[in-house]
Amino acid sequence: MPQYRICHSPRLSGEVEISTAKNAVLPILAAALLTQEEVILHQTPALTDVRHMLDILRSCGAETETEGKEARVRCVALTNPRNLGLLRTMRASVLILGPLAARNGECFLTMPGGCAIGQRPIDLHVKGLQKLGAKVEQEGGAVRVSGSLKGANVYLDFPSVGATENLIMAATLAQGVTRIENAAKEPEITDLCHFLTLMGARIAGAGTANIIIEGVERLHGAEYTPIPDRIEAGTLACAAALTEGSVLLERARTGHMRALLFKLAESGVIIQEDSRGLRLRGKARHPMEARTLSYPGFPTDMQAPLMVVATQTHGLSVILETIFENRYMHVVELNRMGAHIRVEGQLALVQGGHALNGAHVSATDLRAAAALMLAGLAAQGETVLTDPAGHLMRGYERLEEKLRALGADAVKVEEGSGRANP
Ligand code: EPZ
Repeated sequence: MPQYRICHSPRLSGEVEISTAKNAVLPILAAALLTQEEVILHQTPALTDVRHMLDILRSCGAETETEGKEARVRCVALTNPRNLGLLRTMRASVLILGPLAARNGECFLTMPGGCAIGQRPIDLHVKGLQKLGAKVEQEGGAVRVSGSLKGANVYLDFPSVGATENLIMAATLAQGVTRIENAAKEPEITDLCHFLTLMGARIAGAGTANIIIEGVERLHGAEYTPIPDRIEAGTLACAAALTEGSVLLERARTGHMRALLFKLAESGVIIQEDSRGLRLRGKARHPMEARTLSYPGFPTDMQAPLMVVATQTHGLSVILETIFENRYMHVVELNRMGAHIRVEGQLALVQGGHALNGAHVSATDLRAAAALMLAGLAAQGETVLTDPAGHLMRGYERLEEKLRALGADAVKVEEGSGRANP
C-alpha cells in the first residue's frame, strides 16, 4: 500500500517538466483499435491507468510493446476483451465501446461501476450509439452493442467528455456523416481528433460544441505525441501558489489552463508565459470563488487542489462542484489537518487563514490524493498520506519526485517498510 511522507515545505523553486496527459493518452490508445496498422505514441507517461489500458487492448487482440516512453499498438484481429474483469476497475475502459462498435459491428463489455466521485453512468454513450443505428442492450452491468453504424445527428444532453470521445471514434467508420451537437470541448478531445485525422479520419469542428465526422472505409496507422497534462501542470501550479514559490513548468500549455490561471492571478500569484512553458511567482493571498464547469470553465479535476490553496488565503472562498455528485471527500481529511471547510450540498465554504498541521491522512480518489500531498507542503510538521488503492500513481507520474525537484520534502515510503525511497 503506497505511502508518502511530506514535510512543511520551503518556497518551491526551480523547473520541472510536465508529463503527457493521462486523459489524452487513454482515448488515443483506445482509438488504436480502429486500425489494423501500427500506432506509435511518444512521451507516454508511466501511469497505472496507461498500463491498464494497454492490458485492455491486448485483451482485445492487440499486440502492444513499450520501450521507455514509446508505446506501440497493433490490432490486426479485433475481438471482444477476453478478460472482462479488466474493464471493471478503470472508468476509461468504456472508451473501447466506440472503436469495437465501429470496427466489428458488435461488442460485449462489462461496464465499470461508479467510483468514489460519482455514479458515472454511460447513458449518453448508449443513446448516441443508438442514434448511429446500433442496437444496445444493457443488463447487470454488461453492455451488448450490435449492428452497423450509419451517420446521424446526435445531441448530447450534457457535454460528456467520454461520450463525445466514444461517438467521435464510432463515427469515423460509420457510413455517412455524423454531427455531434453540444459536444465536450476539452483539449484532450481536440487532441484525439488530431490523432484520428492523422489516421485518415475526416473531422471538422474539433474543440467546438459542433463536431462533424464523415465516415471512411478504413483508418491507417499513425505516430503521435499527445498534449501535456494540464491537470498535472495545474496541480504543480497550486503547489507553487501555496508555498510562495518561483517555478517554471516546462511544456505546460497555458492556453489549456486559462480558468485556473485566472483564479490564481486573482488571488495574487504572478503568472508569466514564455516559450518554455509557464512561470509562476508569489503566493495566493486573496480568497477565491470557483464553479466547476465543462471546458473552458474551471476544471472539476482542479477543484481539490485549488481548495487546498484556498485554505491558506485570508478570507472566505466559495467553491461549487457542478460536474460530479460526490467530489468533496478530501474535505474531511483537510479539516482533520486544521482547515475550516464546510460543505453544504455541492457548495464548499472554505474559511482561509487557519494553519494546517501534519496528520496521517488517507486518499479516497486520484485528485484528493494530490490535494492531500499539497496540503502536506503547507502543513506544520509531517504528513503521512496513505493511498490504499494507489490512486496517485494512476494519474501522476511520480508527483512526489517532481515536488522534490522543486525543493519540497516529499518521499514515497516503501510499502510496509517505513523506509523512504527517494
Ligand atoms: C473525463 O471523465 C475525465 N476522465 C475525468 O477525469 C474528468 O473529471 C471528466 O472527464 C470531466 O472533465 C478521462 O478523460 C479518462 P464525463 P468522463 O463523461 O468522460 C455524467 C481524472 O481525475 N455523465 O464528462 O467520465 C457523469 O456522471 C478523471 O482524471 C452522465 O450522466 O466524464 C458526470 O457527472 C476523473 N452520463 C458528468 O457527466 C454519461 O453517459 C461528467 O462526466 C456520461 C457522463
